[in-house]
Amino acid sequence: MADKAIITIDDKNFEMPIIKGSEGDLGFNIGKLRDDSGYITYDVGYKSTGSCTSKITFLDGEEGILRHRGYSIEDLASKCSFLEVSYLLIHGELPNKEQLDNYTKTISKHTLVHEDVKLVLNAYPTGAHPMGKLMAVMSMMSSFYPDSLNPHRSEGDIQLTITRLMAKMPTLCSMIYKHSIGHPMVYPDNSLNYVENYLKMTFGHVTEPFDCDPVIMDAMNKLLILHADHEQNCSASTVRMVGSSHANLYASISAGIAALWGPLHGGANQMVLEMLEEIKADGGDCVKAMERAKDKNSGFRLMGFGHRVYKNFDPRAKIIKVACDNVLNKLGVNDPLLDIAKQLEEIALKDDYFIERKLYPNVDFYSGIIYKALGFPTQMFTVLFALGRLPGWIAQWKEMRDNNEPISRPRQIYVGEPLRSFINLSDRK
Ligand code: SDX
Repeated sequence: MADKAIITIDDKNFEMPIIKGSEGDLGFNIGKLRDDSGYITYDVGYKSTGSCTSKITFLDGEEGILRHRGYSIEDLASKCSFLEVSYLLIHGELPNKEQLDNYTKTISKHTLVHEDVKLVLNAYPTGAHPMGKLMAVMSMMSSFYPDSLNPHRSEGDIQLTITRLMAKMPTLCSMIYKHSIGHPMVYPDNSLNYVENYLKMTFGHVTEPFDCDPVIMDAMNKLLILHADHEQNCSASTVRMVGSSHANLYASISAGIAALWGPLHGGANQMVLEMLEEIKADGGDCVKAMERAKDKNSGFRLMGFGHRVYKNFDPRAKIIKVACDNVLNKLGVNDPLLDIAKQLEEIALKDDYFIERKLYPNVDFYSGIIYKALGFPTQMFTVLFALGRLPGWIAQWKEMRDNNEPISRPRQIYVGEPLRSFINLSDRK
């Protein structure tokens, strides 16, 4: 196999070393291209551009493969706790029992957040979108921990910030939910496991005991694992980009939350539910909905379908679809939206428009139906995505920092006006 790529421009050759990933990814390093040739590459949306090398997650979009640190998502989702997977993502190895116990115990010591967080939440209208509140309170975290502002402090300080983030995110997410329904927050109960504690803070009440349904706890654990990381997606790339300026980890995560909010990214899980509700209200006509999805002028997209990388089934969607059936059956929920979703999938998988474009269900297509069955309001779905994605964002930020990567600063092709003479205000038409 060649060890370099050669671009020939005006009879001049420019060589670029070829990089081969451990699973066969191939790329060539254009780092010196502009200095050598005066040319840059141009790739809106970075569809063919790699921003880094990474050891965290491997995706094969054609085969529908997803692995974290070499372990398949199928194994992790069925055999691990979310905290175990978060440790794997951040530290690179599955923890042994002692490591997991220490990790769990350390996190349980940091679950409280400063009472002033309530001041920020109370400044928001209760009906404000939870992702806007999450961005704000995450950004506020750095003000409570000035020692975290310099990302080049000791490894111990970085680790303390990572512990605080993992510990406080469930508390922040549950506070945001309680604020949205005008209820008092439920403080953390560190005798519970990570997921149970989150569910109690969310659905528990200050005055009543909380019995966590094991079906709900297992489903929540699985959903968090399935959202934990996804290599250089829009929000992870944002976290790396912001972190590359040596901004602190809280600010970088807050930026990742902002990127995830978008309906083309993490916000899609909320849009899927709203789309299914719209189709149901319109008589459940899935054929009509599919025709709209194929009509570019309709402004309607089949949310939860399609993916930048997966040109096959998103393996997470497959796992969530099975979990959907299990959870709804065990909870005795009969949600017509699930039937509509299955009909849409069945039609799309046989439709040339979707087949030609390799559009399959992604992680967001079925997740909202489970979240709804677990009792979450639609607007909280993307907050749940962020809760799951946090360890992935942390791992990506840490890898970028450990690799001493330079500040990210893309170039551009200028297509604006050439130099013009200035026109005084009085002379302008
Ligand atoms: C996530 O990157 C990640 O890893 C993200 C994620 C993660 O874990 O971090 O996996 C999470 O964000 C999943 C994706 C959630 N978003 C949605 O479900 C929104 C609906 N999907 C799309 O908008 C779209 O598929 C994207 C944004 C996901 C991908 O967009 P691309 O890669 O830029 O593809 P594109 O928009 O250029 O679409 C290619 C073609 C176009 O048609 P043509 O112009 O070629 O005729 O496919 C069509 C699109 O119009 N198309 C769709 C469609 N998605 C793409 N047509 C109808 N319905 C859709 N959902």
